[in-house]
Amino acid sequence: MDLSTSRRTDMCGELTAADVGRTVSVCGWVDRRREHGEHLAFIDLRDHTGIVQCVVDGSHDLRGEYVARLTGAVRLRPADTANADLATGAVEIEVHEIEILAEAEPPPFPLDERTDVDETIRLRHRYVDLRKERMQRNLRTRAAVNSALRRGMESQGFVEVETPMLIASTPEGARDFVVPSRKEPGSFYALPQSPQLFKQLCMVGGIDRYYQIARCLRDEDLRADRQFEFMQLDCEASFVGQEDVFEFVSHAVAEATEAVTGTRPVDFPRITWLDAQERYGSDKPDVRFAMELVELTPVFDATEARVFQAPCVKGIRMEGGVDALSRNQIDGLVDTCKRWGAKGLAWMKVVDGDGGPALDAGVAKFLSAGESSAVIAALDAVPGDMVFLVADERPVVRHVLGLLRLELGRPPVNEGGLHFLWVVDFPLFEALGDGGRPVPAHHPFTMPHPDDVDLLEQGGDALLEVRSQAYDLVCNGWELGSGSIRIHRPDIQSRIFELLGIGEEEARAKFGFLLDAFRFGAPPHGGFAFGTDRLTALLVGESNIREVIAFPKTQSGADPLTNAPSPIDAAHLEELGLRILPPAT
Ligand code: AMO
Ligand code: AMP
Repeated sequence: MDLSTSRRTDMCGELTAADVGRTVSVCGWVDRRREHGEHLAFIDLRDHTGIVQCVVDGSHDLRGEYVARLTGAVRLRPADTANADLATGAVEIEVHEIEILAEAEPPPFPLDERTDVDETIRLRHRYVDLRKERMQRNLRTRAAVNSALRRGMESQGFVEVETPMLIASTPEGARDFVVPSRKEPGSFYALPQSPQLFKQLCMVGGIDRYYQIARCLRDEDLRADRQFEFMQLDCEASFVGQEDVFEFVSHAVAEATEAVTGTRPVDFPRITWLDAQERYGSDKPDVRFAMELVELTPVFDATEARVFQAPCVKGIRMEGGVDALSRNQIDGLVDTCKRWGAKGLAWMKVVDGDGGPALDAGVAKFLSAGESSAVIAALDAVPGDMVFLVADERPVVRHVLGLLRLELGRPPVNEGGLHFLWVVDFPLFEALGDGGRPVPAHHPFTMPHPDDVDLLEQGGDALLEVRSQAYDLVCNGWELGSGSIRIHRPDIQSRIFELLGIGEEEARAKFGFLLDAFRFGAPPHGGFAFGTDRLTALLVGESNIREVIAFPKTQSGADPLTNAPSPIDAAHLEELGLRILPPAT
């Protein structure tokens, strides 16, 4: 693309041997300067396309990060000074005119990719940080992802509709950020956790296929894959079933992946939620490596070993673990598993025995000969491997071994390419909470599996068996997105609210507008939303989404650049009808 302007003829990073002899003007920041005696200086000028070496014969006032326009003739570098690592490494500009466009203080940190700079300092001077090649690449990739997603959705007939930011509340399960109302002191708007309710209203409104690259806000603890504000590719469609939604979303994700990597992912395999839990101990399995959880409960049916007298026993095998792990590391893993909620972690070495592989060390002495050989057979273990077993309630076993598996085997974020995976048949409720009240796994508008609607009437533990028409898209162990087919029938919706302990009055107060809408003809509908920050991070190989967001918050939720959040003045508080309480002691 031609990026020339009235001030520049060329971009720094794009000059090649083909330009030799041309007189060019380039604009940018002084990346580096090397003085050779009093009269000769080599200036590396940088813009977002790269760096070009400029030779200044004579005095100059350029310093690091000064903004300058340099004009001169492109010439070949002497062969022995050519730099094969640099796109422009064969050439240099013989400068005959220097125009300083802006002076600059020395940058607060070096702009090379090698120096590790404190996060807060990077964010306080984000405008400097953004000049780095890594940030330029990440933000430009992000833009390419968004653009490909739009193309992907629009080519399937999806229409972009913008939904409001000042709303009542959305039930995504996080805390709302709220905005006080001046016109109605004491009342608050909530900022949307997602466009969920509005996109469903769009379906009642006949939009048929809605999408939006939507900003969502959730007041929750921040982690590597979580920010207060983040972006979703959000969509909803009418007269669809699960398969239709998978098709729409896979297509858009494939477009974005192809736009960035050049390769189109064709395979979006599926796994049921239950299978994912049993085999990987997670609802977002990283399937780039095996080390699956193996069922060992039957092996210990009648065991004498106290450790394994539990409702569920599973194990994993670490290939070559005997040499890879020191005793100290193993003890560390035992402690870590206890922190994750296990009573302990049983470990054993697989060694050469008289009649084939045998178990040794750790808890091996507690196992009968039959149990030992059954464990070895079930785990397919060979000498040199380590095996780890956990015995407990089934959910604890899955959870702890699932985390241990990641700890022992997980490759870096995008090593081995992106492995997308649909996780289907989520349970409708993830647990029974206080007083046996079910806790929804997704939001309360999720349609139960048609075969399981009867179980809703049974109540109690049967509720945990109810599957839903909810699904997640997972990639390399990250939850990329979630969606569901929605309840469009008021009778089922009332029943779910009832089960969740949302009384009729509360339901009316919170979602009355949605329930009303459903009385005026709601098409069957369903949809999906996935985090574009997460997709971009995976595509560029960043393990923290902050690296693909131009102006993110720190882990503690602060913005060191603008100092948000910050107090507001007394007059403003007064106007809003607010008074600040002294901090709780
Ligand atoms: P859900 O709450 O699962 O579903 O969110 C969908 C996706 O949004 C991303 N995401 C986040 N990204 C960064 N920071 C956060 N704090 C954060 N929280 C969520 C994740 C997640 O998978 N309305 C439903 C979707 C639907 O049913 O259509 C929803 O928002 O990638
Ligand atoms: P103990 O008999 O409690 O000293 O445990 C012996 C070994 O078994 C220790 O290595 C414990 O970490 C381990 N262990 C204890 N309880 C469990 C359990 N429920 N599942 C797996 N390993 C366990």
